[in-house]
Amino acid sequence: MSSGLEAIANELRRLQHDGVDRIFVEDGTMQLIVPPAQDPNLSEQDKDGPGPNLKFTTESVATPKATPLPEPPKIIRPEGDAASQLAWLKDRVLACEVCKDHLSDDGKIVFGTGSAQADIFFCGEAPDADEEREGKAFIGKPGQLLTKITKAMGLSSENVYTTNILKWRPEHDKPYGNRPPTLDEMRFCLPYLKDQLKTIQPKVIVALGNTTVSGLLGHDPARKMGAIRGTWDQFENIPLMISFHPAYLLRNGTLKTKRMVWEDMLQVMEKCSLEISDQKRGFFLPKS
Ligand code: URA
Repeated sequence: MSSGLEAIANELRRLQHDGVDRIFVEDGTMQLIVPPAQDPNLSEQDKDGPGPNLKFTTESVATPKATPLPEPPKIIRPEGDAASQLAWLKDRVLACEVCKDHLSDDGKIVFGTGSAQADIFFCGEAPDADEEREGKAFIGKPGQLLTKITKAMGLSSENVYTTNILKWRPEHDKPYGNRPPTLDEMRFCLPYLKDQLKTIQPKVIVALGNTTVSGLLGHDPARKMGAIRGTWDQFENIPLMISFHPAYLLRNGTLKTKRMVWEDMLQVMEKCSLEISDQKRGFFLPKS
């Protein structure tokens, strides 16, 4: 490997260690670093690529729509109970012209699912292709893992609420991969998320992954996922647990990373006064 590529690979390893599971690479840059004979989209394990233990899986490099987003919407909620307010907000979001404008042909806006009384509010960054097709949050592979995690916590998807900051799937001009949402995109949809929180009033928000944390707390280049994962912050005066995105676990599902996420969930369960058996406390510990 050339020293330039070696340096890039080292930086990617450092980011991966910090919990970053995707980076956004422009087409032009990709052409410079991937040898032309190789199809970058199939190069899971390329010969001249970044070396062992680092997969060069390229995700979409589509750029967001050039038209700037308008000011974020202002939400004035009607009176009513949580369920009717949530239903009202869902109609409001499904009618959002800006959201609709960003959908692909058969795509649907993804509002969120779960109980209006949920104590635990899982928040991701943006829908993937599966979610956009069905109009439901977290139903693809990462979502299935999240369902497993909630089941292991003794909960079902009816006891939790699951949504994303962005209510549409970031545009995409390739038949594969995902583009992380931009800060501007997340900023536009934030009032919708805030209103979901005001209505549901969960005891805990779980922020899944680095992009979600930036969308909620603002971008901070000095913030390292490896350092903040498993710690509490606050969003809208609600305790916020920062954890890895399930997509990160799918790619880096070692006993160690599984235990890290499980320890985050144990903290969430404690905060919500959920019963924790000794068996549950010991999940994903190395066998002695
Ligand atoms: N699916 C979602 O709904 N959200 C994510 O953040 C990732 C996958």
